[in-house]
Amino acid sequence: MPHIKLINIVGARPQIIKASAISRAIRKHFSEDITEIIVHTGQHYDKEMSDIFFDELEIHKPHYNLGVGSAGHGRQTSLMITGVEEVLLKEKPDCVLLYGDTNSTLAGALAASKLHYPVIHIEAGLRSFNKTMPEELNRIMSDHSSTLLFAPTNSAFKNLMAEGFRPENSPPYTINNPKIYLTGDIMYDNTLFFAGLAEKKKANFLDQMSLVRNNYILITIHRDSNTDDLVRLKEIFVTLRTLAEEKDIILVMPLHPRTIVTLKNNLKDLYYELTHCNHIKVIPPVSFLEMILLEKNSRMIITDSGGVQKESHFFKKPCIVLRKETEWIELVNNGTAKLVDADPERIRFEFNNFMNSHSELEYPGFYGDGKTAEFILKEILLMFKKE
Ligand code: UD1
Ligand code: UDP
Repeated sequence: MPHIKLINIVGARPQIIKASAISRAIRKHFSEDITEIIVHTGQHYDKEMSDIFFDELEIHKPHYNLGVGSAGHGRQTSLMITGVEEVLLKEKPDCVLLYGDTNSTLAGALAASKLHYPVIHIEAGLRSFNKTMPEELNRIMSDHSSTLLFAPTNSAFKNLMAEGFRPENSPPYTINNPKIYLTGDIMYDNTLFFAGLAEKKKANFLDQMSLVRNNYILITIHRDSNTDDLVRLKEIFVTLRTLAEEKDIILVMPLHPRTIVTLKNNLKDLYYELTHCNHIKVIPPVSFLEMILLEKNSRMIITDSGGVQKESHFFKKPCIVLRKETEWIELVNNGTAKLVDADPERIRFEFNNFMNSHSELEYPGFYGDGKTAEFILKEILLMFKKE
């Protein structure tokens, strides 16, 4: 087997967490075959949005941090493309690995494909069919710049076929002759690996937070469709606060800095009310191990996050999704996730339903066997062997 140099591009919180699954599998099974270089675009930079994950999940510190930070889509993405291109020209890797659908993903895809480095996309094929989402454009363009595409679900795999990708392609794989795979989800690998560790390492976390198991609801909100529409954002929070008071249940909200910035700058009164309500705990973003504990012991999860939707399934928790549509459609088809947009009546209806029907729900294994990272790395190595 040839030794390969792989550039792993991360930037946003969920990508750092995803990279830990790949890094772990390289350390455990492929350290003789793969040298990993981690490039952090700097899209997320607060300690609790970035460094905390490198420390806690034992990922190698980034070999390069491009320090791009926050900016409008054009400026942010273009700075990342420039930075990634410089690293690629210096490092001359064998391939470039990308996760998900952020601006960091798109920048990596464009920089690498234009320099003719094979792009490998993990979480390929996900579609919301809503091109007003920045992530949808990032997904489509990243997939169509890729050579190996790893789709985590049946629906993602079918989406790729509908866009012209052909499962029967044979090697050598190139950007013009890409290979698509149906795999599981590397975040399921992570959940299996870290759930036990979270219980051990953070044994006192729930007590410190004064939380009682199964007697609080976990909420995350960060999607631009919610944070950038003040009427909508206010309606969501007011509805949730009213429900918490009516049902006398605690809402725990580790809020993304984007949401905090919006509340503090544009909805000051609401922010004051939320942070002074006995039924609500607004807290800064938490570490992944803490998040796992919050998810695992919650009564229900309410979110607009892609990752948190899936984790609700891993921990067998009903999930209310504050969006019009989702890429994780199997959760909705399964009846354990409900799309409510930001409609107060729908939020109320599903909230009451889930408070009553907890034990009747089932959570089939949609996301693989927990060894997806290993499978992906084997296939990457095979590509180089076949060449
Ligand atoms: C990005 C991704 C989104 C993903 C999310 C994960 C894009 C287009 N969006 O959204 O798909 O779900 O990451 O969390 O790539 N901020 C801070 N500190 C930080 C990071 C961000 O204060 O460390 C604030 C800044 O005000 C910034 C805002 O959050 O302007 C938005 O950050 P940005 O990275 O542009 O988008 P996200 O909303 O985080
Ligand atoms: N997460 C975390 N701490 C938090 C909120 C989220 O560790 O305070 C984790 C969460 O468990 C999931 C990932 O971050 O694995 C999801 O990231 P996010 O919601 O920011 O982005 P998305 O998945 O929607 O792209």
